[in-house]
Amino acid sequence: MILIDGKKVAAEVRAGVRRDVERLKRKFGRAPSLAVVLVGEDPASQVYVRNKEKACEEAGIVSRTWRLDARTEQSHVERLVLELGSSDDIDGVLVQLPLPEPLDSASCLCLMDPRKDVDGFHPENVGRLSLELPGLRPCTPAGVMTLLEYYALSPSGKKAVVLGRSNIVGKPMAMMLSASGPFANATVTVCHSRTPDIAKECREADFLICAVGKPRLVTKDMVKPGAVVIDVGMNRDENGKLCGDVDFEGVKDVASAITPVPGGVGPMTIAMLMVNTVNAFRWRME
Ligand code: GUN
Repeated sequence: MILIDGKKVAAEVRAGVRRDVERLKRKFGRAPSLAVVLVGEDPASQVYVRNKEKACEEAGIVSRTWRLDARTEQSHVERLVLELGSSDDIDGVLVQLPLPEPLDSASCLCLMDPRKDVDGFHPENVGRLSLELPGLRPCTPAGVMTLLEYYALSPSGKKAVVLGRSNIVGKPMAMMLSASGPFANATVTVCHSRTPDIAKECREADFLICAVGKPRLVTKDMVKPGAVVIDVGMNRDENGKLCGDVDFEGVKDVASAITPVPGGVGPMTIAMLMVNTVNAFRWRME
């Protein structure tokens, strides 16, 4: 069984980013920069944003976070997104999700400059991904693809099942796995809350990607022997312990490769954000 080490792969990706940043600084006279918009006090979002700031600092990327009160008006957030989009010295912009109610994230994302959209959530980038055109791609599924490539776990010709249809993970994950490029070509099934028999779908998967946010939903009896199991979940169990969507202890005995939580997909998300920020900078400057 291969234990997929996201921490190690992410560290290698980030070291590559650091070297790229050094080179780009010499070439263009300044470092890439990332603007983060954080609205409200959601504890998980606070941790994510702090980790993004730390990763930027390590990579030599300049980051600045706009921390806004939870009661900030929609028009204020939208104006900020527009301003950051037109600011010459900002290369990447991200709005940390979820936004507190009643703010509407979709209209904020639509106002983003697609060339600075380092989350890959703008409709133009979603369209580019679906058309297999170059563009900024959502960090978490891009991180999963990087892990699969790193461990030479090719999904080509295989059956992949994606649990969850979110805009952040499930949908872009399905598009990446079914793309016709050099590394993908899977036959993909997307499962969600209205799928009649999720366990049956899972048992047919050579590649099982779990992104539903339900602690240890996927048990050993749901996994085909020899399957590659990727756990995108980040949950707290009833004892407050961090755990994924997969029952790791049971599933590790049947899978041929598996990601742990923590230390699997999580670190890759931030590494890919650094990659996207450098690419956004490069595309703007060149
Ligand atoms: N919330 C959970 N995941 C993400 C992500 O990848 N980007 C942003 N902006 N917010 C998130």
